[in-house]
Amino acid sequence: MKRKKIIAGNWKMNHTIAETSGFINEIKGHVSEISDVDIVLCPTFTSLQTAVNLTRDTIVGVGAQNVHWDRNGAFTGEISLAMLLEIPVDYVILGHSERRQYFGESDETVNKRLKSTLTTLIKPIVCIGEKLGERESGITEKVIARQLNDSLNGITADQMDNVVIAYEPVWAIGTGVTATPDQAQEVHAFIRNLINEKYSANVSENIRIQYGGSVKSSNADDLLSQPDIDGALVGGASLDCSEFVKIIRSAE
Ligand code: PGA
Repeated sequence: MKRKKIIAGNWKMNHTIAETSGFINEIKGHVSEISDVDIVLCPTFTSLQTAVNLTRDTIVGVGAQNVHWDRNGAFTGEISLAMLLEIPVDYVILGHSERRQYFGESDETVNKRLKSTLTTLIKPIVCIGEKLGERESGITEKVIARQLNDSLNGITADQMDNVVIAYEPVWAIGTGVTATPDQAQEVHAFIRNLINEKYSANVSENIRIQYGGSVKSSNADDLLSQPDIDGALVGGASLDCSEFVKIIRSAE
């Protein structure tokens, strides 16, 4: 089965509501004839409703950048699934390395968020990736296997239908240093193989694995032509509409 490519823009803490509107009004004209790529924008929480309203009759989906696992309660600053469903968003990014680095996210909390998300129709994008020191000391595969296993703990094969994995080597995020297509492909094939072992050939052939880390229009073609790279999670380059559209075109 051919996997549909998925290009997601992770805007992080960028773009106000006004800037979000401007971006979406601009991108609409460029993507109206695209049908063979899933396009997702992940703005900040405050811009989600605007993004959903403005993309309603387009193929552009909207994702949040995080969600809490509990239904509601005393969790100052957090957002629940019911709140995201009310908007409603299509996707949610879980376990981004910046959440792990600055906000104490761990494989265990990613797993809690994932389990809760999979009780809804919101599709999780689960981020994993090794740090520079881990790559340099030759333990990339060990780290990836641990992150994948612990994040997916208790998730069934059926539930995996809705999951997207994003492989984002931490050393490539926001640094301008991207993994070479070969380096990325090697880890993507490793992840797909792990999913085959944990679930089945069917699950591993269907799951989409995005690459993330300094993806831009100049390297997107080479990365997206690798057999196990099914899309991109784009940070910095997704803030510029024409640059993001070029990356989407590379996936077509
Ligand atoms: P970057 O970020 O494209 O700016 O490296 C990617 C990400 O963090 O998802």
